[in-house]
Amino acid sequence: MNLPEMLDDVETRLVKTFRLSRVKNQVVGKGYIAGLRALVAVLNIPKPTVFMSKGSSLRLCESVSQFGLRKILIVTDQMLYDLGVLDKMLAELTKLGMSYSLFTDVKPDPTFDVVEAGLKQYRKDDCDAVMAIGGGSSIDAAKVIALAATNEVEPRELVGILKGKVPSAPFFAVPTTAGTGSEATIGAVISDPATHKKELVIDTKIVPLVAALDPELMKGLPAPITAATGLDALTHLVEAYLSGMANHESDYYARSGIQMIFKNLPLACKKNATLKSRENMALASYYGGLTINIAGLGYVHAIAHQLGALYRIPHGESNAKVLPHVLAFNQECRQDRMAEMALFLGLGTEKDTEKALANKFVEGVKALIAEVGIEPKVDKLTPRDFKEIIQAAFKEANSTYAVPKYMSYDDAEKVLLALAG
Ligand SMILES: NC(=O)c1ccc[n+]([C@@H]2O[C@H](COP(=O)([O-])OP(=O)(O)OC[C@H]3O[C@@H](n4cnc5c(N)ncnc54)[C@H](O)[C@@H]3O)[C@@H](O)[C@H]2O)c1
Ligand SMILES: [Fe+2]
Repeated sequence: MNLPEMLDDVETRLVKTFRLSRVKNQVVGKGYIAGLRALVAVLNIPKPTVFMSKGSSLRLCESVSQFGLRKILIVTDQMLYDLGVLDKMLAELTKLGMSYSLFTDVKPDPTFDVVEAGLKQYRKDDCDAVMAIGGGSSIDAAKVIALAATNEVEPRELVGILKGKVPSAPFFAVPTTAGTGSEATIGAVISDPATHKKELVIDTKIVPLVAALDPELMKGLPAPITAATGLDALTHLVEAYLSGMANHESDYYARSGIQMIFKNLPLACKKNATLKSRENMALASYYGGLTINIAGLGYVHAIAHQLGALYRIPHGESNAKVLPHVLAFNQECRQDRMAEMALFLGLGTEKDTEKALANKFVEGVKALIAEVGIEPKVDKLTPRDFKEIIQAAFKEANSTYAVPKYMSYDDAEKVLLALAG
């Protein structure tokens, strides 16, 4: 049995063993958390080399030009290309004598057929590296193209944990949204073209070698997308702060990132958003990616993924709608952590009780979501879909995330009833 298969096997056993205690008392087993922590330690997750601030995307081009590559597949979406977001980078690559092949067919929430088409172009044009320029959709599609290319497998075969046997093609990422943190994570989310159900490719080999957080590329991001993607980043950081897997390092990223988002997201959503607010959002989003690698996600994502797939709601918006309800569910058992967040956000003082502080945090999150214009309800949500949503959400969360407390079917139903229009 090779290492990926062994880890898969260990994970399956852990899940099977500790599921018993989860159902019985609804509290996350310490053994399960210890198992997940061990798994993360064994994974030895790398970090990209990161260039930051205005002009960093051009510095990334220069760095890439020193890798001795033949031809780079640039993975992006048509809208970004048409808006001219890539223009300066493409000119810089040409100036540096780099060859590239442009793949512009990524759509939001990319499907396997998009990834297959990108892989086909990579092979046809004899590429030997991949660069994503775009939001999480472009970065995720590019990650799977890069891994499938060297592993000589179909992209679907990479769904699961550590399915890649050899390193991916050299991979570089330049995010143009501040939300997913995909430029840092070991995950890629690809949807089934028929059902739009999201599948996860989790592999340490898809972390980019170099990334650039360039606020210049985010200048034209419309306010609704800025808001939704920014709240995706907030959800990563908050879910990680409440996770049983949180550690000193993830707490540092979470504290810094959450503070940056509360301060900068409303500014970044304004018409003439400053470059500084964009830059801070980009850093917070990157921190969100780093926290996911350490502490994972929780029920907000597990439920939001299903709502997004079923009703075609953008990922960040879906998270923003679900977040306050899952916080309310967790409030009693993670009152201490929520009180800490209220304190470092300045939403309360040491004179407040822990309970009052936790309340202030939940209310603060709701106020931020409302301020940036996200509607709280899911209009199309109907009780007919509850069972399918809950089963899929439990399948995702209960075997992957170190949630603070397990939900019963009734708990999840309450969340969905509150979300229904
Ligand atoms: N891999 C991970 O770790 C991870 C984490 C969270 C989410 N995701 C996935 O990422 C995807 C969502 O990514 P996203 O939220 O970044 O959105 P996206 O990439 O789907 O882009 C959304 C829209 O914004 C437009 N856009 C992007 N940048 C722009 C810019 N600078 N100016 C103008 N328009 C711009 C795009 O053209 C697109 O129409 C989902 O599939 C989600 O599941 C992945
Ligand atoms: Fe997310």
